[in-house]
Amino acid sequence: MPAPHPPLGAYYRTEGDRRAWVRGIFDRTAADYDRLERIVGLGTGSWYRGRALRDAGLKPGMSVLDVGTGTGLLACAAARIVGDPARVTGVDPSPGMLEHARVPAGLRLLSGSAEAIPAPDCSADFLSMGYALRHVGDLSAAFAEFYRVIRPGGRLCVLEFTQPAGAVPRAIVRVWLNGFVPVIAALIGRRDAPLLMRYCWDTIAACVPPETILRAICEAGFVDAERHVELAIFSAYRARKPP
Ligand SMILES: C[S@@+](CC[C@H](N)C(=O)[O-])C[C@H]1O[C@@H](n2cnc3c(N)ncnc32)[C@H](O)[C@@H]1O
Repeated sequence: MPAPHPPLGAYYRTEGDRRAWVRGIFDRTAADYDRLERIVGLGTGSWYRGRALRDAGLKPGMSVLDVGTGTGLLACAAARIVGDPARVTGVDPSPGMLEHARVPAGLRLLSGSAEAIPAPDCSADFLSMGYALRHVGDLSAAFAEFYRVIRPGGRLCVLEFTQPAGAVPRAIVRVWLNGFVPVIAALIGRRDAPLLMRYCWDTIAACVPPETILRAICEAGFVDAERHVELAIFSAYRARKPP
């Protein structure tokens, strides 16, 4: 199974360069990330994240691994639902993002990636990932690793942007993410904030289709894989590890 998108020549040359470039851009924009996220999501991000986790089966008392946790926005939503921040662990390869995370006491943050999660086999009731799947190097490796760390019967929830299928919604999203948001980012953020927003749009536009992501989830061994879509762009991939 390939990377979620081919190398993007406007930013780095080869797949081998991608990991360092992605880490660098998130490190350099980490201080602005939460503000940019509020603009992109028009302030609905926290509400949407919580609802998506609940809809995917997250319940009080469950243990959660949040992979690609960044500044911890999805991990915080998970902690509110499970009722104890100590039940939630966030994992991310960007030291800058982890440094700027504002999470409740008890919530653990670890350095790691989707391809190498620092957690024992079968240790999590629930694994979440928010808007980080486009940045992994290999879909099969990532979903195999998710399968390894989730306990039998446990659940997976991956939130991701998807390019809308229709021409009109696609044009609206492109103008928003690739036109308006980078201009606002230039006004309120540091030097690389507009670059991050443009990169974000380019990875969405170049990403493999949802069917490929669902196939990768199933090939890893998950069952009941499904994709729930809202506003044509917000995809929630849900699945379960067999008991
Ligand atoms: C757009 S941010 C999402 C942060 C957070 N999950 C949220 O919901 O706002 C994407 C995150 O993915 C991380 N990332 C990049 N490559 C990754 C990988 N291979 N595995 C896991 N996370 C990765 C980045 O460092 C960044 O923090």
